Amino acid sequence: MPSPLTRQQCSQFARDGYLVLENWQFDDQCQRLRCQAQQLLQQFDPGPRHSIFDTRKQTADDDFLASAESIHCFFEADAYDDEGRLRQAREQSINKIGHALHELDPVFTQHCQQPELARLAIQLGLRQPRAIQSMYIFKQPRIGGEVVLHQDATFLYTIPQSVIGLWFALEDATLENGCLQVLAGAHRQGLKRRFVRTGNGATEFIELDQTPLADGPLTPLPVKAGSLVVLHGLLPHYSAANRSSHSRQAYTLHLIDGEAEYAADNWLQRASPPPALRP
Ligand code: FE2
Repeated sequence: MPSPLTRQQCSQFARDGYLVLENWQFDDQCQRLRCQAQQLLQQFDPGPRHSIFDTRKQTADDDFLASAESIHCFFEADAYDDEGRLRQAREQSINKIGHALHELDPVFTQHCQQPELARLAIQLGLRQPRAIQSMYIFKQPRIGGEVVLHQDATFLYTIPQSVIGLWFALEDATLENGCLQVLAGAHRQGLKRRFVRTGNGATEFIELDQTPLADGPLTPLPVKAGSLVVLHGLLPHYSAANRSSHSRQAYTLHLIDGEAEYAADNWLQRASPPPALRP
């Protein structure tokens, strides 16, 4: 397992808003998570409805709102043809699984409870790191959707801001299959908007700052499987659609500080406090 971050890495995170930690986990650990995700896909019964996840529209149906403390599979926006039939096998049609894998699934729970994750979070300033949500992202071959430029704090707002995204590459992420791209340093420009519940199951964006993000080229982050990308909650990031013939599977865990106030109108609401990470 990797050593704690160096002082230089901590300064780099403060300056750029992200870190790439290569060889964070071994191939067999990546494979274990990939296998477990396949199991979850096979067990998933969508029933008569099928929830779609599309960041271009960012709608939130009942399954999405209820998924804070459950495990649910969401389809790709392009999974179905005009007649409502899946274009490819169901296992290759799911956009992501969310949002409580780290709490309800034994393999992902064990992954979340590695002391190294808590130590990393504490080094990056979280006094009481808690895992508020997890997502297994498939970025399927040919139909893997674009994830529009966003800040994670838009969706997981705390006072003060504390969210940190941990993005574990479980397969090689490349420019061709839609690797992460970041607006380096733009986390210092503040939070632009929030995604909130407005009551009766409705959600909306609230604009906090109309000033556009300062223009700058996006920095692509192609990484090998086993790498961990750490994202500051205010860092704008993006990933293009995957039109290649290879998936780009990744697992993300979002941490917040248990000492910060979690906004009562965030879209993601839990009945119980999110699980604590223990060093
Ligand atoms: Fe994100």
